[in-house]
Amino acid sequence: MDKGDGLVTIAWEEIYYNTQKWMREAGEQIRASFADTLTIDYKLDASDLVTNMDKQTEQFFIEKINETYPEHRIMGEEGYGDVVETVNGTIWIIDPIDGTVNFVHMKRHFAISIGIYHEGEGVIGMIYDVVNDELYHAQKGKGAFVDDQKLPMLEEIKVDSAVVSMNAAWAIPNRLIEPQLIPPLVNDLRGTRSIGSAAIEMVYVASGKIDGYLTLRLSPWDFAAGKILIEEVGGKTSNVNGEPLNILEKSTVFVAKPGLHEQIVNNYLKKESK
Ligand code: IPD
Ligand code: CA
Ligand code: CA
Repeated sequence: MDKGDGLVTIAWEEIYYNTQKWMREAGEQIRASFADTLTIDYKLDASDLVTNMDKQTEQFFIEKINETYPEHRIMGEEGYGDVVETVNGTIWIIDPIDGTVNFVHMKRHFAISIGIYHEGEGVIGMIYDVVNDELYHAQKGKGAFVDDQKLPMLEEIKVDSAVVSMNAAWAIPNRLIEPQLIPPLVNDLRGTRSIGSAAIEMVYVASGKIDGYLTLRLSPWDFAAGKILIEEVGGKTSNVNGEPLNILEKSTVFVAKPGLHEQIVNNYLKKESK
């Protein structure tokens, strides 16, 4: 919006409203597709699936955004958006279906995830749990909500009272973390869970259902929205070494309640901790 003085202000409230509307519309289309036969392709291997609905949903958002906000750029998992290599301007980071394996196998525990960044700063984070019809949304500085209910700020918690989501695959030898770092953490926690959708795991942290989420290979579209939601309720986000997440790069990710985050990074995850 040009105010006539050459300065452009961004209509964030309108963007917030439109994003919620488009997410609910896209979710409705995904729910309606349950009756149809899915077309499923492999990307890298048999664990890396993409369906016609992942592609259709991303295209739906890209059409809406290009039509309404042609000056914005879009980074989408399925590659229908722009090639985004810098943080300049306003960038929509979209995962049309996060948890595609869950979508294909269970028809639940998957989400649409959209993070909107401006000059590298997270402004709007939205994650829609499609089957439960729960929309988690946050605008920086204005609080985080699930539907119309405000999420409380997260409180500190100790390791032995904490439930942390993580994928058992990281306890076997891999290039990203020393696998021997994981068993002591698993041993000391109250429990672990594995849900299979980074976006859902991140809103479960933001809404206090679980206390942390540890994962070793996420792309920007997996964590862009969750990062904004979690930080809005006082949670901490970083890579496994406690360093800030880079919104343009793949990364290890550890998000958790305040206090718990520092305890786990310093005592369990940092290589020099052992
Ligand atoms: C995947 C899910 C999964 C996580 C993978 C992601 P996708 O996203 O979030 O839980 O472990 O690393 O790639 O491929 O279903 O959008
Ligand atoms: Ca994903
Ligand atoms: Ca996806």
